[in-house]
Amino acid sequence: MHNSRKQLVAGNWKMNGSLPLLNQFQQLFAVQQFNNVDALLCPPFPYLISAASDTNTLRLGAQNLSEHNSGAHTGEVSGEMLREVGCEFVIVGHSERRSDNQESNHLVAEKVQQALNSQLIPILCVGEPEDIRDENSHLAYIAAQLNAVIKLVGISEFSQLVVAYEPVWAIGTGKTASPEQAQEVHAFIRDFLSKEDLEIAQSVRILYGGSVKQDNAAQLFAQPDVDGGLIGGASLDPQAFLAICQAADV
Ligand code: PGA
Repeated sequence: MHNSRKQLVAGNWKMNGSLPLLNQFQQLFAVQQFNNVDALLCPPFPYLISAASDTNTLRLGAQNLSEHNSGAHTGEVSGEMLREVGCEFVIVGHSERRSDNQESNHLVAEKVQQALNSQLIPILCVGEPEDIRDENSHLAYIAAQLNAVIKLVGISEFSQLVVAYEPVWAIGTGKTASPEQAQEVHAFIRDFLSKEDLEIAQSVRILYGGSVKQDNAAQLFAQPDVDGGLIGGASLDPQAFLAICQAADV
């Protein structure tokens, strides 16, 4: 049971893909119909304009945005610009950005704020590295990541965002969290948010990410607090990504 939460399956191409691959996705998804899942593609910035379309079988998101509105920030892209080219969503605080670009909990919160100001739906990524899981402090680690955002934007804004739980040790490793491990953390996140606002906690979508493939997707999505997935590697294969979207469309 997922209450009335519609599932969301988001493909994160990271720094991969090409225009021909985008074209394959567009052709395949133009003829699909989904009932209870939003399918979302987050390609790199240069492909966003070409990826925008009128069909809503493949919605559009970016992988990052600036914490600033505009101005002298060479190489940065604002939320307004993303909105202008047709993005509805933006991934914020992916673990690769937290580690490669030293994005702190506070900076991630600022980016969530910018996304909301630009009428984009932030997909706020949280999740623990392996050593934190090994010492069994992952729940406190995730609580701190959530708290930074709650403190800056307020719990009421969580009605406008999506949370993605991505254990860092499961990203790109082929080592998926078991459905039970995912459910434990998803239930913790929902419970944590419910202490702030019960109704918002019940409505917020919580995605699982980390080595989701077409053969493990259905089991993960069947967990009561898993409302879809954030898909890296498997989102580069149109048929595999479609199969994952279909696994969520129940
Ligand atoms: P993966 O990546 O599916 O390749 O593990 C997930 C992600 O980083 O969003």
